[in-house]
Amino acid sequence: MTTISVEHVSKSFGKVAAVDDLSFETPPGAITAFLGPNGAGKTTTLRMILGLVTPDSGSVTVGGRPYRDLDRPLRQVGAVLEATAFHPGLSAEAHLRAVAIAAGLDVARVGQVLDLVDLREAARRKVRGFSLGMRQRLALATALLGEPGLLILDEPANGLDPTGIRWLRGFLRAYAVDGNSVLVSSHVLAEVEQIADHVMILAAGRLRWSGPLTAGSSLEELYLEVAG
Ligand SMILES: Nc1ncnc2c1ncn2[C@@H]1O[C@H](COP(=O)(O)OP(=O)(O)O)[C@@H](O)[C@H]1O
Ligand SMILES: [Mg+2]
Repeated sequence: MTTISVEHVSKSFGKVAAVDDLSFETPPGAITAFLGPNGAGKTTTLRMILGLVTPDSGSVTVGGRPYRDLDRPLRQVGAVLEATAFHPGLSAEAHLRAVAIAAGLDVARVGQVLDLVDLREAARRKVRGFSLGMRQRLALATALLGEPGLLILDEPANGLDPTGIRWLRGFLRAYAVDGNSVLVSSHVLAEVEQIADHVMILAAGRLRWSGPLTAGSSLEELYLEVAG
């Protein structure tokens, strides 16, 4: 079980306090959503979890260790941040093979992840011609190569059509039911309401509310109250 633990983390960019004394732990085997308006500090937090941004203070660990100290990071954490870049001249399959080989992962996994994200039919096509939704699926497939127990997704529904969003919801649910953990960020309330078990509401770099989503309770009222 890979739990993310964030303890009293702050990060400023110049005068902007992007993240301000943030603490939380993600529940394992659940889909946790990080909800908040644009600029709330969601992406910065995810980047700190992945060791891409260094906090000014506080500590961030994944499964008890800083991300950069993980022995086999791709096997423990799969991540999709905003606007993943792919070589436009590679096919989806060639991209996945290259990543698998570079990371020392079994190349046989490529076919499996293409099936998982429903991209098998486009596997031989060059990424140059992919829609945003197809790129999102390919980024997700890349994150799944190492069969990680934890998935971190930054605004994964961006660029997906309603069918794609429904598909993503089903995919994440099945993934969590298998005992894996998911941390997903979003600024879209309705999306979070449909996808998450547990919600953290972030505004201006601070955690305003955190708790399980229960049927019948209005996330919208809560959100407007704490982050509106
Ligand atoms: N690399 C950076 N340089 C300067 N400011 C940044 C940088 N990254 C984020 N910020 C600022 O930090 C705040 C939080 O941004 P971000 O974490 O991207 O929020 P969110 O993902 O919730 O929209 C914003 O005010 C943003 O402009
Ligand atoms: Mg963001």
